Amino acid sequence: MKVFNSKEDIFNTIEGFKAQNKKVGFVPTMGALHAGHLALVSKALKENDVVVISVFVNPTQFNKKEDLEKYPRTLERDLNLIKTLFATNIIIYAPSVKDIYDENIEALNFDFDGLENEMEGKFRPDHFDGVGTVVKRLFEIVKPHNAYFGEKDFQQLQIIKKLVEKLHLSINVIGCKIYREESGLALSSRNERLKLEHLESAPTIYKILKKAKERFAKQSPKKVTEWVIKEFEKQKMLELEYFVIADIKTLKEIKRKSNKKVYRAFIAVYADEIRLIDNIALN
Ligand code: PAF
Repeated sequence: MKVFNSKEDIFNTIEGFKAQNKKVGFVPTMGALHAGHLALVSKALKENDVVVISVFVNPTQFNKKEDLEKYPRTLERDLNLIKTLFATNIIIYAPSVKDIYDENIEALNFDFDGLENEMEGKFRPDHFDGVGTVVKRLFEIVKPHNAYFGEKDFQQLQIIKKLVEKLHLSINVIGCKIYREESGLALSSRNERLKLEHLESAPTIYKILKKAKERFAKQSPKKVTEWVIKEFEKQKMLELEYFVIADIKTLKEIKRKSNKKVYRAFIAVYADEIRLIDNIALN
């Protein structure tokens, strides 16, 4: 396993692999790796000859300075975790902010056909411009055949697919199932920061999502949403930010169901000051 810090070095190395007709998979991360990331890497290892993992806490996707400062930076631990896969065909790209942004730490402005304005976009202004900027940059450096993203950030996944479509990149964007603890809690680097009492209540988020899914089979989206809001009013440790039932193509909240469309329920919840997101396929 080799660790690169410079875009020129990793670019040249990857070009070398491509010259030997090797298929390159890419797993972009912000570090603080957990079993969910390892699942993405394992899938990538099965489907490619070489897997690149980037570890980069991207400053332009944080809309609160303190979130960026508090974000865990655990490269040593991350590398040790990757070593547990015993794969010799993994390369790590752990650049500095300068290597990615040079002197201009600014996000580009993207039009993702409105996907960026729903849900996370409403509560985290400019977040997806930051994500789009860094993923575009990373794609230019790594130029992978396949890139892997978790469905926990389903809106991000749809936006990356849109980015690839709009920029006419020949990259396969592959969504991977949400990796959950036994309790149902979706794995997230943020879980580490939960206090014990919040860690104990956080699995309720998925329990409510599963019940919402059952209700969705019989009830209108409005009724299901009202029920979820009421359920969260009973929770002492969790505060609901949004619950939205949306069409997976447009990510717009729906009023009526149609059996020709595919829907998901999306949720954001505060457990103390930690913001957790999750989602579930409904049909
Ligand atoms: O999902 C993440 O960890 C980040 O948003 C990503 C895609 C690595 C971009 O910084």
